[in-house]
Amino acid sequence: MKCGIYAATGIGKQPWHFTVLQNRELMDRITAANRELMLKSPTEAVKKWASQPAFDSWHGALIAIIVSSDGSQYATMDCANATQNMAVAAKSLGLGSCYMAAPCVAFRQSEHKDLLEALGIPEGYTPLVALAVGYTAEDPIPRVPRKENSVNYVR
Ligand SMILES: Cc1cc2nc3c(=O)[nH]c(=O)nc-3n(C[C@H](O)[C@H](O)[C@H](O)COP(=O)(O)O)c2cc1C
Repeated sequence: MKCGIYAATGIGKQPWHFTVLQNRELMDRITAANRELMLKSPTEAVKKWASQPAFDSWHGALIAIIVSSDGSQYATMDCANATQNMAVAAKSLGLGSCYMAAPCVAFRQSEHKDLLEALGIPEGYTPLVALAVGYTAEDPIPRVPRKENSVNYVR
């Protein structure tokens, strides 16, 4: 958490709220909301993934850290910085993590206001990204090859 809250923020605003969720019942309620939304996706692969009986937004992790934004000018970048910092910190502590956006999209649906309340997210903050954190069950799959020509140098 320290590595998250010490991420750089535009004009030093710290425009976020962090929720460390260690409650499986609530994590499962978020998965259910996420699944409902994914089943409406126009993308077949997304629907197929959500249809799996074992579908879990959190990939079986014990902890989810939800990063909520106050919606100010640089908040999206700041919350992303904090999330990436925490992912790197988790790795350095021997943990695995998964950076994710989809579960937070589910919160933005008005019918899931109860989830925001249950999570104690302060008024004026909207969940933006989440980080599932846990011990990895398997070695990471090989990294996807990086796109070529994504860097140019000007000297
Ligand atoms: C902004 C962002 C959103 C993501 N959202 C999700 C998600 O909702 N669910 C999920 O399982 N993984 C999510 N991921 C994880 C990615 O799909 C991918 O597994 C991860 O970034 C590792 O990719 P790499 O192999 O290129 O490093 C997200 C990653 C990022 C950076």
